[in-house]
Amino acid sequence: MWAAVVFSAAALALGYAQTAVNRFPDGFMLGTGSSAYQVEGAWNEDGKGESIWDRMTHENPEYGLGDGNGDVACDSYHKYKEDVQLLKALNADVYRFSISWTRILPTGDLDVINQPGIDYYNNLINELLANGIQPMVTMYHWDLPQALQYIGGWTNPLLADYFVEYARVLFENFGDRVKWWVTFGEPAQFVSGYADNRDYAPSQNAPGVGDYLATHTVLRAHGRAYRLYDRQYRAAQNGTCRRVTDQLTVGAAVCSVGIVLDIQFAEPAVNDSEHRAAADRELQFNAGIFAHPIFTKEGDYPAVVRQRVDANSAAEGRPRSRLPTFTQEEIDYVRGSADFFGVNNFRTGYVSPSDIGISPSKAKDTGVIVGTGERSAEGFRKLLNWIAAEYPGYPIIVTANGLPDSGGVNDQNRIYTYTRFLTALLQAVNTDGVPVVGYHAWSLMDSFEWNYRFEVKRGLYEVDFESANKTRTPKASLAFMSQIYKSRELPLEHFQ
Ligand SMILES: *[C@@H]1O[C@H](CO)[C@@H](O)[C@H](O)[C@H]1NC(C)=O
Ligand SMILES: *[C@@H]1O[C@H](CO)[C@@H](O)[C@H](O)[C@H]1NC(C)=O
Ligand SMILES: *[C@@H]1O[C@H](CO)[C@@H](O)[C@H](O)[C@H]1NC(C)=O
Repeated sequence: MWAAVVFSAAALALGYAQTAVNRFPDGFMLGTGSSAYQVEGAWNEDGKGESIWDRMTHENPEYGLGDGNGDVACDSYHKYKEDVQLLKALNADVYRFSISWTRILPTGDLDVINQPGIDYYNNLINELLANGIQPMVTMYHWDLPQALQYIGGWTNPLLADYFVEYARVLFENFGDRVKWWVTFGEPAQFVSGYADNRDYAPSQNAPGVGDYLATHTVLRAHGRAYRLYDRQYRAAQNGTCRRVTDQLTVGAAVCSVGIVLDIQFAEPAVNDSEHRAAADRELQFNAGIFAHPIFTKEGDYPAVVRQRVDANSAAEGRPRSRLPTFTQEEIDYVRGSADFFGVNNFRTGYVSPSDIGISPSKAKDTGVIVGTGERSAEGFRKLLNWIAAEYPGYPIIVTANGLPDSGGVNDQNRIYTYTRFLTALLQAVNTDGVPVVGYHAWSLMDSFEWNYRFEVKRGLYEVDFESANKTRTPKASLAFMSQIYKSRELPLEHFQ
């Protein structure tokens, strides 16, 4: 049986050599991910300091929807060699994991540099490379040193200085082998811990104020870490990146330093101009607020965000906007401070204009109501097209996508979800010409799921959290994904 092979003009224009619609282009990076607090355990071993998630889950175990904490989790601190074999069985090209700041710098500052923490990540990185798997390192995935929360956490502008010094330690120690860096994973999620999200550390209740202050510091910290890499490490560590405009050959791309934004795509609930404007506001307040300063030529916050927060702040009688203002120097070092755009997507929400919500709050400033998100592969494809149109010139990596469920190794729904989303991804790349260069299934194994504790499962491997061994068992989705990662294509039937 010969299937018709379709080569897309869009893919050819990107420099992808003759890619059939159902195939991943040569050099496309397939992998999976995790984060430190969710999998490592060993929360106070070998000199590790306390993070805000350690603090919150210990002092307020009643927050969130289930029992448990990350004290042991999947015990990956002791089982990293086994984890690398799990990745190998998946045929993964790349593994995105995060570094726990307090394992390296227990107080968050340079007064104590914890060598056993550095050793752990050296061992993990070396084990990955010895098995042909590229490490992609997230520098910060939600677990701030508690010592830095005592001084206000991300609402304190000085945190940018602390982050840059931490980044320097990482580049110094690991940059000879790590070619892919993510400064921040899902900032829209963790800044909500400074707003009205009690279940996310540090549980600070300052909606519409704390979340904007944290956003502002995170953007400055990101920009400065990127400039540090540019200035001191990029040349020596071969961190070159070929942009899409350079006829990207993805196999040769080493894109170095980027950021990962979690974006629920937004569609108007009704197709009229008010609903379309509301959907755009929803995207700008949740994604654009981080992406516009970094990925546009002009930089700074999206105009609609600036205008609405300023106007509401004035109407509330405040002498200043709740959203801080960048200096021109800050605008300049933040804009263009990324080599790739990392995006996590799980759902699409349907949006209507609305004036409800507590005042002040980001929700009130946004002026929308979002219905329950749907697991829409079509929305995922539209989101990838939206990123490419809104922020042209950047390679895109889908850094997390998948399905949460209540558990079990015969996870046919997860297979179904991956099939639909990977089909949409290949259509975005090969038919629409969106420059996606990698895809990471989320996640490698069941792990500590934040406010859902261990109630929700997302892994390709099941973890028996009751067992002393934290025994990992492959799910049906592991066999399915490892076959796709090996063949690097989906059955053509999905495209007809
Ligand atoms: C950078 O590339 C050069 C030339 O290929 C090589 O000799 C050197 O070892 C590389 N350095 C690192 C840190 O990868
Ligand atoms: C929404 O309406 C606009 C303008 O009438 C139209 O161009 C667009 O195709 C419509 N979108 C959908 C999804 O129907
Ligand atoms: C520990 O887990 C591994 C796989 O995760 C398994 O091969 C091994 O048999 C387990 N050991 C015990 C004592 O359960």
